[in-house]
Amino acid sequence: MHPVGLAIIGLGRWANVLAGVYERSDNVRVITGFSRTREKREAFARRHGCACEESLDAVLARSDVEAVAVITPNDQHADAIERAARAGKHVYVEKPIAVSIAHANRIDAVIRETGVTFLCGHSARRLGGVRQMKRMIDRGEIGDVSMVEAVFSNERGLELEEGDWRGDPAKAPGGPLIQLGVHQTDNLEFLLGPVARVTSVGKRMYTRVRNVTVSQTLLEFQSGQSAYLGANWVAPGVFTINVYGTKANLFYSLDFSWWSRSDVTDAHSILRKRAFTQMDDDPDHRLLCDTDVEFPPTDHLRDEIEEFALAIRSGGETEVGTRTATRSLAVALAAVKSSAERRAVEIQEILGE
Ligand SMILES: NC(=O)c1ccc[n+]([C@@H]2O[C@H](COP(=O)([O-])OP(=O)(O)OC[C@H]3O[C@@H](n4cnc5c(N)ncnc54)[C@H](OP(=O)(O)O)[C@@H]3O)[C@@H](O)[C@H]2O)c1
Repeated sequence: MHPVGLAIIGLGRWANVLAGVYERSDNVRVITGFSRTREKREAFARRHGCACEESLDAVLARSDVEAVAVITPNDQHADAIERAARAGKHVYVEKPIAVSIAHANRIDAVIRETGVTFLCGHSARRLGGVRQMKRMIDRGEIGDVSMVEAVFSNERGLELEEGDWRGDPAKAPGGPLIQLGVHQTDNLEFLLGPVARVTSVGKRMYTRVRNVTVSQTLLEFQSGQSAYLGANWVAPGVFTINVYGTKANLFYSLDFSWWSRSDVTDAHSILRKRAFTQMDDDPDHRLLCDTDVEFPPTDHLRDEIEEFALAIRSGGETEVGTRTATRSLAVALAAVKSSAERRAVEIQEILGE
């Protein structure tokens, strides 16, 4: 297929990671980019062999730009998306879809009104091990699921200085919850369906910034199942999901140091199944047995942009549209509210705000 001409908006750390991923794909071609700082624009253009523009208007005026990837801080997503969609450009946006439900609703409205293709970068649901857990749950291979534990941590809170948008509770509410935990709220809804309500405690610990750095949340699903979500900015990288079924348990873990190298992230992850096995020589004695589960490898960051490009060319739907992405944000924001008000918060209450 003819590659989709892409412009990247917001040329910070993650934009450089994604531009490197996009260079490995035949479905997209990074044509140009925009950030407000000249040095960042020039460095990005040099590193990725593309153009750069001095304004968003200049990006949107280019006829060879068919789509934009919005990789700015969360509170800047909605404005950039509205302008791009109204200029007829398809939109990829990094997670979380926005900083608030009001912003997410603005994005939903403009995407519906303009009819452009939209995808939000909840890449973690595309990890090979997460896909495999979903298949195993849906096929009943581990029986009925009662609970899930999901944790995502890194050491960001130890490095943050005042002035970084991540340290500001207005720009990154909940700290690690909205930056890391939102990958897991999406995964948990992907695995178990809609969350009904959450109860959460967030704390500011071991950091120089004002924001929360440690967050623990209990999620109750509409199905009656429950989950624990730990999101932490002051501990070395952890990404785990443990699923407890009536026939077997699943333990998934990936080495966070390979998160950005999506071509090999799966190779640095492990999925184990634990179930009873009968002893041939002793029918009364059952032993717990752990087995490694094989799964087809994916490239979580490349797969999502390729799905986006194919949807643009075919006019089809994408897996993570505005509604799905708004739900995972709502779950995270419900947890922030629960911690602030020390009560359980219904997701519907947040979605209705
Ligand atoms: N999927 C993942 O695993 C993952 C990982 C990291 C980050 N992210 C997401 O990616 C986004 C960016 O994160 P990051 O780590 O790259 O942050 P970052 O390093 O701070 O980069 C963001 C860049 O956006 C630019 N910017 C700010 N406001 C802008 C505006 N109005 N128009 C154009 N550019 C603007 C800033 O440069 P100027 O000051 O030059 O404009 C800044 O360099 C966030 O939504 C974050 O949640 C996702």
